[in-house]
Amino acid sequence: QDKRESLFVLSQWASKLFKENLWETELGQSIGLSYFKERGYREDIIKKFELGYSPDQWTALVDEAKRAGFQSEYLKEIGLAIERDDHSLYDRFRGRVIFPIHNLTGRVIGFGGRTLKTDKSVPKYVNSPESEIYHKSDVLYGIYFAKKAIMDADLCYLVEGYADVIAMHQAGVENVVASSGTSLTTGQIRLISRFTKNVVILYDGDEAGIKASLRGTDMLLEEGLNVKVLLFPDGNDPDSYVKQVGSAAFKEYIEQHQEDFIFYKTHILLKDAHDDPIKRAEVIREVVQSIALIPDEIKVSLFIRQCSTLLDIEERVLLSELNKMRISKA
Ligand code: GTP
Ligand code: MN
Ligand code: MN
Ligand code: MN
Ligand code: MN
Repeated sequence: QDKRESLFVLSQWASKLFKENLWETELGQSIGLSYFKERGYREDIIKKFELGYSPDQWTALVDEAKRAGFQSEYLKEIGLAIERDDHSLYDRFRGRVIFPIHNLTGRVIGFGGRTLKTDKSVPKYVNSPESEIYHKSDVLYGIYFAKKAIMDADLCYLVEGYADVIAMHQAGVENVVASSGTSLTTGQIRLISRFTKNVVILYDGDEAGIKASLRGTDMLLEEGLNVKVLLFPDGNDPDSYVKQVGSAAFKEYIEQHQEDFIFYKTHILLKDAHDDPIKRAEVIREVVQSIALIPDEIKVSLFIRQCSTLLDIEERVLLSELNKMRISKA
């Protein structure tokens, strides 16, 4: 317990250092702050999310931490430092803008760092590893800043990335959290369901985003949540789309284009099926498979009816398919 508290204190300290780097150093201002400004982020939003900067040096943080008297053990445990074979330490986050990750009560538990390089010599994002205070599978980026808005709206927007959460806040949509690239986990879904049962998935409009949205849909359904989905045109993500069309048009777009999962999934799958009956049968089975995950029998029966209309196939046939799936699963 003492150790956990020390890790929290160290995280908070590091977050403050990253912020000071951003706002109060020449490198931070000319590289980090101007990066955020080029992305269109306002100062009040940069401050609200406590964004920061780590200079492109090997031991900037490690040196400061030693001066401040922090133990190497804790620096390693929380992943701010990495140990070399000769046991010397170097910084995990170098030459990156920093997105601190907050828990439900607003304490910093980890960091995401985005490279400023445009080539592919380094990974785009580096993230803190799992630690005693950071359990990735139970954390959603932005939850601390979103929880009240989620309750007020009784709705949670789910996005892929840090930048999407921030861009949407800036556009005035605050009920939004990110799964941060990793595929959605049960822990993350349970976290959302403490605040609302209604989720709208706003993943990137690319191949990976579509796949993740279908997987995410099934997991959310299985946990008893109501799911709608919306993908942005031309491979856009929420951040790039808000930039493209502006806040007002963005808000209108997300309100008007969200589709119930059943329509979304059907449309996506039918695109490739055309009029081929074998492929259509496969689509029907896939959609029924999602419905079969829903724990609420009343919803199941309503979705089966919808599916019947949508795919022009008798309810009786769908129900028998549904029951077969359930038997083979049990
Ligand atoms: P920007 O390019 O800054 O707009 O980022 P993005 O959020 O649009 O990135 P992308 O859609 O590629 O990925 C979504 C999320 O996945 C990111 O916000 C990260 O949390 C995570 N991610 C992306 N790239 C990497 C990577 O190289 N390594 C790791 N560990 N995570 C990544
Ligand atoms: Mn864990
Ligand atoms: Mn993506
Ligand atoms: Mn993206
Ligand atoms: Mn993006």
